[in-house]
This record gives sequence, structure tokens and C-alpha cells, in this order.
Amino acid sequence: MSRYHDEFRRSIDQPEAFWAEQAKRIPWFTPPSTILTRDEGDHARWFQDGELNLCHAALDHHVAQGRGDQPAIYWDSPVTGAKRTLTYREMRDEVAHFAGALQALGVEKGDRVVIYMPMVPEALVAMYACARLGAVHSVVFGGFAPHELAVRIEDAEPRVVVAASCGVEVDRVLPYKPIVDQAIAQSAHKPEACVILQREQLRADLGAAIDHDWATLVASAEPADCVAVKGTDPLYILYTSGTTGKPKGVVRDTGGYGVALHYSMEVIYDMAPGEVFFSASDVGWVVGHSYIVYAPLLRGCTTVVYEGKPVRTPDAGAFWRLISEYRVKSFFTAPTAFRAIKKEDPDARLLEQYDISCLKALFLAGERLDPPTFHWLDDLLDVPVIDHWWQTETGWPIAANLQGLAPMPTKAGSATVPVPGFDVQILDREGQPEGPMEQGSVVIKQPLPPGCLAGIWRDPQRFHAAYMAAFPGYYLTGDGGYVDEEGYLFIMGRTDDVINVAGHRLSTGEMEEVVGGHPAVAECAVIGIHDHLKGQVPVGLVIPKDGFEGDEVTLENELIALVREQIGPIACFKQVLVVDRLPKTRSGKILRKLLRNIADGQAYGVPSTIDDPASLQDVHEAMKAREVGAAHDARQQ
Ligand code: COA
Ligand code: AMP
Repeated sequence: MSRYHDEFRRSIDQPEAFWAEQAKRIPWFTPPSTILTRDEGDHARWFQDGELNLCHAALDHHVAQGRGDQPAIYWDSPVTGAKRTLTYREMRDEVAHFAGALQALGVEKGDRVVIYMPMVPEALVAMYACARLGAVHSVVFGGFAPHELAVRIEDAEPRVVVAASCGVEVDRVLPYKPIVDQAIAQSAHKPEACVILQREQLRADLGAAIDHDWATLVASAEPADCVAVKGTDPLYILYTSGTTGKPKGVVRDTGGYGVALHYSMEVIYDMAPGEVFFSASDVGWVVGHSYIVYAPLLRGCTTVVYEGKPVRTPDAGAFWRLISEYRVKSFFTAPTAFRAIKKEDPDARLLEQYDISCLKALFLAGERLDPPTFHWLDDLLDVPVIDHWWQTETGWPIAANLQGLAPMPTKAGSATVPVPGFDVQILDREGQPEGPMEQGSVVIKQPLPPGCLAGIWRDPQRFHAAYMAAFPGYYLTGDGGYVDEEGYLFIMGRTDDVINVAGHRLSTGEMEEVVGGHPAVAECAVIGIHDHLKGQVPVGLVIPKDGFEGDEVTLENELIALVREQIGPIACFKQVLVVDRLPKTRSGKILRKLLRNIADGQAYGVPSTIDDPASLQDVHEAMKAREVGAAHDARQQ
């Protein structure tokens, strides 16, 4: 514990000295002399005058250091039956050629490139190619619908869009090109070029004037060199759900991110160069950006890129097979994946087929590791089962059990302790510190450590309003939680309208905008309710307009289809209830927390501000009749 305390205190008391030391662990073209500066909003910026290139640090540097023949990527795709290994040298060469292809299309330092790809090695090649040129990538998860892609294209204004012809799910091939075409048609901003990786499962028609075939472009491209960028120059924009309909473009800088990821690979994940790291996520999420793409290669490790699911590809033993086959040392996924495995293979019979003695730690994040899943894993495995907490904005863990620094006993339900650099505090509504065991808003005192968001793309006001305004001097995480007497941190859930479905962050406000846009809907609320598998799922409660004469089932189905069409299947919006009234305060605010408590079968008090107490009974009965929430959950367990 004292090793942790010493390191933590130093990171908080002398942040500049601490991070200047860590910065030496990655290769710079020009090492930074300015370590910490503050922007106009008093937000921390790191390593402003240093010059580097993250593609160089992750690939060229390792080739130069003699790692050229070491695998950089193990790609494993049970959905297509393919496997492929790329060494560091092969990866560097593919990236340099694709960067040359992008350059030939006019992409320069600072330009944006939107990437819409499944879990194929070329997704990583495209990301690194952007980094090589100093261009800013914005990867959009494949489960998002054309509208969501259009919103991101319009906001990021990319010069080029890079996509694959299709994604492959468990039982079907999903065409991507029509989604890209529709998104470009919907967006006011038009990219100059669209590069398509043709996959043999479904080739796309490249008929439009802006379309280019990946392979043809690369065949004639000259390899491009790494372009030096400043420590504070942007590496990527990653959109995430906020509380409104418009996603937030989280901007990540280059130098601070590289330093933080490298540090995390050592102290949190205990990874040494040459070892294998497997993060079962998707390049479309922050976990994918940080711990599939950048961190493992910055550290000289091998990363496993998995195009498959925890179950059904072909069975619930998939993760055990991958760990054993690739000799994975640290494995990282979302708790929901293990809930799915546990459901199909409750006694973990499939694990008996595999030797997973290589595994030294299992990390979980994306949502709280619920105690039943923690205990199931803890009983099953001989290695530490570690919940760690972070978010798209921070880019790396805020709280964890630091395996490479000072492993601590785990506690079910806790993400253990703040990672060095993160001065985590719990505040009450008035901004006063809470005592041990008292729940409040979880905030981080400025300066945030390197690696965290630089801002919201072209929207400093939104950045300030969303994160800095609530408690001056502190970054608002949006999560609620408490610290116990031993300093262990417990994150208990969001305090805003963001929900977490199967480890994916979604905005109920955005779904409400879509549902409320249906001509028959007068009023609606979308809430996140407990789900035994996905953690939470959204449920819509809808009041039709006066005079609505259609049938309710048709309306419900239309609303489900609308959300799928506008946001995408990943929203998992599958339940809508038509009700006569919704519980509201006298000032007209819908009592969403109360609705959640009713759905989850939790005790609730009736607030004195409620306008029409009988509305509660209405909602209660509608949920019971349709087995929404607790009733449904009970039947599934
Ligand atoms: N492209 C297109 N569609 C996609 C997609 C992609 N990349 N990923 C998911 N979808 C679709 C699915 O096909 C599904 O559509 P459907 O409603 O037509 O069936 C929908 O989006 C929901 O997908 P998913 O959440 O994956 O649900 P599932 O029931 O297929 O699988 C789990 C359940 C638990 C196995 C799955 O959610 C899972 O693997 N979760 C782990 C999540 C994770 O790793 N998160 C990373 C954060 S750390
Ligand atoms: P995302 O930005 O998609 O990574 O989602 C971040 C949000 O997921 C956080 O603000 C939390 O609400 C939740 N989350 C992620 N990891 C954890 C965890 N280990 N424990 C509790 N909540 C978590």
C-alpha cells in the first residue's frame, strides 16, 4: 500500500516533475520542455512544445529497436473463419503505404478522416496511417445507423471517409457501404473521397465519383513518412453520448495520451514488451482506441484483434480459446460479456478444454462489475479479477488495482483506488467534500493528468458547461459514488441521463428526441432500467396525442423501428409502453428516477412536488401488465 501512496502523493503534489519523468518513457522527436500549461478555461494541457508522432512511437521505433519480427497483431475472426498475424515490420509497412494513399487523396496534417470499419486489421492500419500523417481520425462504431454517422461526418468535416464493404455479425453479413452512402447524402459536409476495403463476404458497388478501392490505391501508393506533431495536437475525435441528442466529440491530444497509455501499461496492466494483451472490445469505443490500438503497441506488446462475440462464435468458450491460443497475459472486457458466458455455460465447462495458465490478470470495465459476476469469476479463476473505472473522456483508467505497482486485495463492487494523477473527490450538491461511505458526485480536481480529453471538438462552451461549470476547479465525471474507510472507491452509476447498455454508453435524451419526433407522440420519457444480461436497457413511455386513433401495438413497433433506423441496433431499444399520463413535478418535469425505481421494483417515496400521484399507479400497472423491468428480470434469472 505504501508504494501506491508514495507514487500517488508524488503525482498529486508534484504533477510536473512526476509526468516529466514518465514522458521520458516514450520516444519524442523533440522532448517537451514545457510540461503543464492551462488553457483559458483553466483546463490542464500537457507537453505543449514536445514533438512526436504516435505512429512512430508505436511502430517505427520498435522496428528500429529490433522488434520488427515480433507479432504486433494477432487477428482472429471466427465469424469469417480467418486468422492473420502481422509483425511490427509488416504493420509499419502497411501503415506507411496506406498513409501514402491517403496523402495522394490530399490528406494533410490536421485534416480529419472518418473511419467506419469492423474489427479487421485494416481498421488499425487506417488509424495509424492518420496518426502517421498528423491527420485526426474519428472512428464510428459499426452498429450506428446512417443518421448517427451523418451527424459525426457533419461535425468532424472529414476530407476522407474510410470504410469496409461489410461487417460480419454472428449470423449475418451487414452491408456498410449503403450506410456510408446514406450518411454522406444526409450530411451537409461532403468528403472528397471515400475509400472502401472490399471484403469477400460482400463486395460493395464503388459507383460514386468519390469512391476508391483500398487495394488499388495502396498498390500504387508511395510509403509516407511520419509527420512531427506537437504534444497538444489532436490525435483523434471520438464521439460519445452526452445528455442531449448531439453526441460530444471528445478530442484527444497526442503527447499526453502517449505518455499516459504507456504508464498505464506498466503500472495498471503490468505488461512488459513482448507480452500479449487482449482487449475484447471494438475499435469504435474508447477501450478499443486505447487498449486494442495504441497502448499495447506503444509498449512493444502484441495486441489481439478479435472479430467475434463472447458467445455464439461458436460458443461460450471463445475467450478461453483466445487466451490459451495466443498466450494472453492480461485480458480486458466488459462485465456484460461474462454475464452472457455465465448464462450459456454456468459451470464454465468449456474452460476445461483450455490451458490458460498464461493469464495473470482479468480486467473489467465499461460498466460496474456487479458483485455476482465478480464472485463467479473470482471463484473460477486463479488470477486477480479487477474492476477498473474510466470513461471516453479520460481515455485511460481513473481508478484501478495497480498490478504493476502495488496489487491490493480486491473488494466486490469497488474499482479499488484512484490511479496516480487522478485526484478523485466526492462532493455533495453544494460542492463540499463528503465523508467516508457518503455518496455524492465523483469529481476530479484539476489538473487532470495527461491523456484526458483536450476539449469538445470546436465547442469550448459545451466542454465548460458539461464538465467544468458544476464545481469550479473540478472535472465532473457524471458518475455518483463513495469512498469507504480504507480509501476504496465505489462507482454506483450515472447521475445524468446517460445509460450503459452492454458496456456501451447511450443517451436517453437522444432516444427521446427520436421518439418525440413521431407525429403521433405528444410526450415521452426514455429511461434505462435494469437488465440481467446487458446491465441496463432503454424503455420508452409514451403518451399519444389527443385524438390518436391508431392501435398501440403498431405505434410501439413504429417507435422501435424509428430508433433502430435513426440511432442503430446498438441502442437495443425494444420496449415501448403507451400510457395515459406520466408522473411529473408541478413545474412539469418528468420524474425519471421514480420511473426507474418503479421499473426496477425498488421501494420509492412519493415526492411532495408530484403533480398527479395517481399517474404512478398507471405506470406501475402498465409495466406489470407488459412484464417490463423487474417482473421480466425475475422470470429470466
Ligand atoms: N455492426 C453492426 N451491428 C452491430 C454491431 C456492429 N459492429 N455490433 C452489434 N451490432 C448489432 C447486433 O447485431 C444487435 O442487433 P440485433 O438487435 O439485430 O440483434 C445489436 O447491435 C445489439 O448488439 P449487442 O449489444 O452486441 O447484443 P447481442 O445480443 O448481439 O450480444 C453481448 C450480447 C453481451 C454478447 C454483447 O453485447 C457483447 O459482446 N457485449 C460486450 C460489449 C463490449 O465488449 N463492450 C466494450 C466496452 S468495454
Ligand atoms: P464510456 O465513456 O462509454 O466508456 O462510459 C463511461 C461510463 O461507463 C462511466 O462514466 C461509468 O458510468 C461507466 N463505467 C465504466 N466503467 C465502469 C466501472 N468499472 N464501474 C462503474 N461504472 C463504470
